[in-house]
Amino acid sequence: MNFRGPFRVRASEKPDPVILHPEDAIIKVTKSCICGSDLHLYHGEVPDTRVGTTFGHEFMGEVVDIGSGVHKLKVGDTVLVPFNIACGKCAFCKQELYGNCHESNPQASAVGGIFGYSHTAGGFDGGQAEYVRVPYADVGPTVIPEGMDPEDALLLTDVVPTGYQAAEMGGIKKGDTVVVFGAGPVGIMAAKCAWLFGAARVIVIDHLEYRLEFVRNYANCEAYNFESLGDPVLFLKKTTDWFGADVCIDAVGGDAAGSALQTITGRKLLLQAGSATALHWAINSVKKGGIVSVVGVYGPTDNLIPIGNVVNKGITIRANQASVKRLLPRLIDHVMAGRLDPKAMITHRIPLEEVADAYHIFSAKLDNCIKPILIMPSAR
Ligand SMILES: NC(=O)c1ccc[n+]([C@@H]2O[C@H](COP(=O)([O-])OP(=O)(O)OC[C@H]3O[C@@H](n4cnc5c(N)ncnc54)[C@H](O)[C@@H]3O)[C@@H](O)[C@H]2O)c1
Ligand SMILES: [Zn+2]
Ligand SMILES: [Zn+2]
Repeated sequence: MNFRGPFRVRASEKPDPVILHPEDAIIKVTKSCICGSDLHLYHGEVPDTRVGTTFGHEFMGEVVDIGSGVHKLKVGDTVLVPFNIACGKCAFCKQELYGNCHESNPQASAVGGIFGYSHTAGGFDGGQAEYVRVPYADVGPTVIPEGMDPEDALLLTDVVPTGYQAAEMGGIKKGDTVVVFGAGPVGIMAAKCAWLFGAARVIVIDHLEYRLEFVRNYANCEAYNFESLGDPVLFLKKTTDWFGADVCIDAVGGDAAGSALQTITGRKLLLQAGSATALHWAINSVKKGGIVSVVGVYGPTDNLIPIGNVVNKGITIRANQASVKRLLPRLIDHVMAGRLDPKAMITHRIPLEEVADAYHIFSAKLDNCIKPILIMPSAR
């Protein structure tokens, strides 16, 4: 796929990628997802998203070429590729902060390299394509275990680890009440994983009825439409004996709806780095001393958030891009043991050639779309 400008993507020919460094591999992609993070790019909210860029940071496929410095992969392996590009050797990678690699995006001091995520995240072409170049190929790509459904493996590249890490960063303790804002794939997975950490009550907030219905069944939780709640913060306080939730998770990010002020300043005028409505609600509905875990993505500039309440309530905010490689071993276990069923979230399987329709369906939340994946010609 090829980005042409806000709300415009198309399938078109580009030269096939080649090995540029001894540690590169070339992957022939079989399946690739579209993510809520791609929508920030598609909506034109991410700085330095250049025309001609190929998006796609959630993909799997076959290794078709490797550089002379690649030792753990061989041609013919079928791999899933974490969305973070990580060198494996820098001070941050050594702490398993693979989303914060210092080498893969040396121009930036915040985010590490991410496939297909603008020049702000390193300018790497992504995997919504037939072929993709994967740097540091001995670090990220992971051979898909025997017996694992490829579509489950595909979702281990981002949304499963991100949802899991959202719950993990929440420091959930046995008996906790956890509120998840956002019933997209990330929020759905965060709700599901909250139980694994011992939550006693899991509440999900969104405004798309079909997603609320899905998450109620899939994650066995309560789910409410913020449009019919009036003030969601007041509702959440009431339902927690006026204490507030132990843990609130922002799985929405800068495309949040629900506040005209935030939407106009954050999404229309781009005066702040996205709309911080869900983060605002999370801070205001967590209990004193509680934890707000943020995986929703915001741009690199500033946001309007109620910092006074953070201070006065003694809230801990934890946030990051998911460290996919760190989490893969335990998540592979959870999937193989049947405790997590990621592929059940996939609602649409769309040929790469119809990528423009796929983006439109996912962005406009049409046809009860939860997670769309693109199927490459080689996989049909
Ligand atoms: N930190 C990471 O590593 C990481 C990885 C993947 C995705 N993300 C981010 O996670 C977020 C969710 O991704 P997704 O794929 O599930 O996206 P998505 O667009 O499918 O889902 C977002 C959901 O939030 C809902 N929503 C909008 N405003 C809301 C509000 N005020 N309160 C509650 N819900 C609201 C929407 O209706 C939608 O269902 C995005 O910001 C994405 O960029 C982060
Ligand atoms: Zn993603
Ligand atoms: Zn590194």
